[in-house]
Amino acid sequence: MALTGILRPGLIQLRVTDLEKSVEHYVERIGLDEVGRDGDLVYLKGWDEFDHHSVVLRKAETAGMDFFAFKVDSDETLEHYRKRIEDAGVEVIDVAAGDQPGFGPRIAFKIPTGHRIELYAQVERAAYHPPVTNPEIVPREPRGMHASRFDHGLLYGPNVNETKDFFENVLDFSTAEQVDGEDNSTQIAIWLTCSNKAHDIAFVDYPEENKFHHIAFMLENWNEIGQAADIMSRHNISIDVGPTRHGITRGQTIYFFDPSGNRNEVFAGGYQYYPDNPTRNWTPDQLGKGIFYYERKLNDAFLSVVT
Ligand SMILES: [Fe+2]
Repeated sequence: MALTGILRPGLIQLRVTDLEKSVEHYVERIGLDEVGRDGDLVYLKGWDEFDHHSVVLRKAETAGMDFFAFKVDSDETLEHYRKRIEDAGVEVIDVAAGDQPGFGPRIAFKIPTGHRIELYAQVERAAYHPPVTNPEIVPREPRGMHASRFDHGLLYGPNVNETKDFFENVLDFSTAEQVDGEDNSTQIAIWLTCSNKAHDIAFVDYPEENKFHHIAFMLENWNEIGQAADIMSRHNISIDVGPTRHGITRGQTIYFFDPSGNRNEVFAGGYQYYPDNPTRNWTPDQLGKGIFYYERKLNDAFLSVVT
């Protein structure tokens, strides 16, 4: 879809088991800015993001994801999607303004994979954001991997086809790419976009509900991916796979883990999607090449390690 209605992933809340080690990882290594704290919650943003924050770390007993939220373009759009979701027979839960600092009211609902997805329209501009008058290229000196923004996420759960139907027909997303199941009529993995990006959220079929595969942060190019790899080795960060490239989305990538075992990705490139693009289909025998274009096979962790 064009950039109206649902705009982009704007907020994600992750559970971490060690808050201080996690803050060091996301701020010093990945390069996000800490914008606030409230007890067991730490609020973070990328250097190229205007909104108050985009990533929340919540100290918890187990790692994983609490929710994944998309920003919409107006209060009217928020109400439009509330009705569409309710008309689809899905319960909508209201979250009061101020539940997250700087954020207006949000609506939350459960999708067929078991994940909590949210929508919101209003959020304050961050106190520290990219300049808007005679803007410098970067608002501050680069730090760590220099992640510019929260880009997308990949979630694991059952009912991928029902989830594809919900995102396409209720939330007006498009399926940019998909991996067919053995019978060609169902999919085992889908890459969905609400924007000009090759994907904003993706799902892989998995027997257990509500599992988290990775959060991805945008870097500018291959050189920054290489520099990120240097930082990972320098600080003995656990790497899953990469640097490599995805066939699906064409993105350049490294998968690695935060101190709690949540998978992270640094991502650069990827093609621009337009709503008249056809869905790109991958057959199950080419799944390895689709995910890791150079290795042409999956590693064991990709399919099995989730939080
Ligand atoms: Fe990704």
